[in-house]
Amino acid sequence: MTRIVVLISGNGSNLQALLDQSDANQLGGQIMAVISNKADAYGLERAHAAGIATAVVSNQDYADRESFDAALMQVIDGYQPNLVVLAGFMRILTPTLVRHYRGRMLNIHPSLLPRYQGLHTHQKAIDAGDKEHGCSVHFVTEELDGGPVILQARVPIFAGDTASEVAERVLVQEHAIYPLTVRWFCDGRVVMQQGNAYLDGALLPPHGYA
Ligand code: GAR
Repeated sequence: MTRIVVLISGNGSNLQALLDQSDANQLGGQIMAVISNKADAYGLERAHAAGIATAVVSNQDYADRESFDAALMQVIDGYQPNLVVLAGFMRILTPTLVRHYRGRMLNIHPSLLPRYQGLHTHQKAIDAGDKEHGCSVHFVTEELDGGPVILQARVPIFAGDTASEVAERVLVQEHAIYPLTVRWFCDGRVVMQQGNAYLDGALLPPHGYA
């Protein structure tokens, strides 16, 4: 059984999608704990409602990134996870932490990577005049939002769309592709080797499975 720890910072709608998938016995693994760097993250309530253990490791309690990540790692490792899932976790992680979970840490990012790494991705896509946008699930590597992509989903951008309208459209897709990718990982179908992602033994292209 794949032991999963989910890291959040906020609303936790992606966490909810994973919890729902788990309820339906379709996740392929077990969510052992939800950890937030914010005590008031709504996602913690979602975890409580689902009877999942929670922990808060507040970055504000630590002098620097290294000491925060060391504390975070200790809490994560207390649950002995095979998989760490970043679901709207809004902290940049140190290379030490990322290396520790190499090949067993996933992230979802609201853009069609490699386009628009970092923040404000929806506005960036609108400002660029893009006709489509989307989200990507990828393995986490030391390069921010730069690890190998496993799966992407696309949505249209319509004339006059606001960033929040686009974000809402993208979130619907996030809730579909993240549980699916976690399932693939739990079933041993997706792995990272030598910095590349493989699905069923086949090297995935830069934009992931298509
Ligand atoms: C999601 O859109 C996720 O892709 C994004 O934050 C949102 C969290 O929503 N993550 C990042 O931007 C990471 N760089 P949620 O808390 O409702 O799941």
